[in-house]
Amino acid sequence: MRIIITESYEEMSTAAARIVAGQLYLKPNSVLGLATGSTPLLMYQKLVQVHEQIGLDFSEAISFNLDEYLGLEPGNPQSYHYFMHEHFFDKINIKPENIYIPNGNPDDLAKECKHYDTLIEGKGGMDLQILGIGQNAHIGFNEPDIKFEATTHKVKLDEETIEANARFFTTPKDVPRYAISMGIKTIMLAKKVILLANGKNKAEAIYKAIYGGVRPDAPASILQLHQDVIVIVDKEAAALL
Ligand code: GLP
Repeated sequence: MRIIITESYEEMSTAAARIVAGQLYLKPNSVLGLATGSTPLLMYQKLVQVHEQIGLDFSEAISFNLDEYLGLEPGNPQSYHYFMHEHFFDKINIKPENIYIPNGNPDDLAKECKHYDTLIEGKGGMDLQILGIGQNAHIGFNEPDIKFEATTHKVKLDEETIEANARFFTTPKDVPRYAISMGIKTIMLAKKVILLANGKNKAEAIYKAIYGGVRPDAPASILQLHQDVIVIVDKEAAALL
């Protein structure tokens, strides 16, 4: 693991955006694994700026999002479909047919999971996977005690995650209890991974991810076994390192 500690959220976001931009310059048809949440928001804004100002080209890029809440329609402002379009996809020149996000309302959930894995495999897996981290060290929606060999699957969200994500909903009871998420195995098959975190509420999770030993109760700790991970954290998230 390479660990970059930045002075601020802004610097964290710039460092991450540079890696994504570099990836696309070198390989315009890169397969990007994308994350939602507050953490990557400024990175997306910076990538949009690079696109607008110096023409970073997404026309050949392919993207797979990590996860989606179960039961939310794509048009629901709390859905990850909506989030990604609002903050990123609608502002760059990625082709709609190259955007993949798990379907949160599938007729057949098992089939949808398989289908998502098949699509990822068909594109050769992720060249670059962007990850945030939950306060309980989840990645995607792979909550503690997940099986490391899991591929795309249905997950029951932990109370801690529901509480943390309630800020995006009117009341905590509106937060869906289930989600569909890429599994740890899918994430681990990415060629390169960037793990992002900012703020002191992520310090413990970041410590567990990097130094806590590889344990299913801290899903992000599996990244210690990946050969090409860059952890970019602001100094608050790095407080326990
Ligand atoms: C959600 C997402 C994760 C994200 C995490 C942290 O649970 N499924 O992909 O990393 O929240 O979110 P935030 O960046 O808002 O702290």
